[in-house]
Amino acid sequence: METVLMREEALARPDDERQKKLYVTLKSITSLADDINAFEFVSADGEPLPAFTAGSHIDVHLPDATIRQYSLCNSPDERHRYVVAVLRDPAGRGGSVAMHDTLRAGDKLFISAPRNHFALSKSARRHVFIAGGIGITPVMAMIAEVRKRGEPFHLFYCARTPQRAAFLDRLKTLIERGDVSLHFDNGDPRNGLDLASTLERRPADTHLYYCGPGRFMDAIEAASAHWPAGTRHCERFSASGAIKESEAATETETPFDIELRRSQKILTVPPGESIVDVMRANGVEVDTSCCEGYCGTCMTRYLAGEPLHRDTVLDDEDREEFVMICCSRSKSPKLVLDL
Ligand code: FES
Repeated sequence: METVLMREEALARPDDERQKKLYVTLKSITSLADDINAFEFVSADGEPLPAFTAGSHIDVHLPDATIRQYSLCNSPDERHRYVVAVLRDPAGRGGSVAMHDTLRAGDKLFISAPRNHFALSKSARRHVFIAGGIGITPVMAMIAEVRKRGEPFHLFYCARTPQRAAFLDRLKTLIERGDVSLHFDNGDPRNGLDLASTLERRPADTHLYYCGPGRFMDAIEAASAHWPAGTRHCERFSASGAIKESEAATETETPFDIELRRSQKILTVPPGESIVDVMRANGVEVDTSCCEGYCGTCMTRYLAGEPLHRDTVLDDEDREEFVMICCSRSKSPKLVLDL
């Protein structure tokens, strides 16, 4: 699978990040569109929250102990709150339904510090955003940032209907100015944005950012395949087709050892089991969410060995230092983890 995400901001140490759980109050829940609510979190002790960059997401630790990732959609200038927008998806894995149906204003819960796998390029002179449905959430923060920088951009915002499109009120001025175009397909992608013609030409120094449902992302990836490496950035909320296909190779996998350097443990990962499975079976706690290599929750630094990467988050540079232990394996007989 080609990794199209390339970020220019250094990743914080994942083990440090995992320790940085923030205790917050859910201050408000606001309806943004059909089945889409905004959830506003403030720190429980009234202190400013850690700063974040456009494109960041947080882990939300739900009352049933599941962890879900949601992109921050408020301005990165704000330190007094984090805002996420969540589409209630009954066909999903349950996180969005729990957010909508069980959380109430005033609830206290833990979230992670923000992490960014979808950062704006610092070298781009112009930015093209394509958002599908709830994929608009990180793009709202990114647009706030590029406007602050004074850099030109265009957002193609695709949704089924206006009723299912969040933030239309906030985008009104930009729509009138021509910086944002709306594309409603009423459920038939043939009526939607023509991706091939939209992405055929790449203006100089332009970077592309896209986020939305899996098939929508796959179509954009294919339509922009001719764009130069490093100019396309995306964030997935489900595993790509390529990742799912790779699961079929499980039977042919060979066992390998993992060394947890700081815990001084050596464990064997057999075929068909993940590194996370083996760690948990041996009493080692590890946070996971998607378990399919697209959310970044399990990102771990490795110190030696050669991982067989199977995520859709890390770019080539990051893969020299980090591995997603929920889905990746090892090409070398032993993989040494900084755990
Ligand atoms: S748990 Fe999501 S990438 Fe590993």
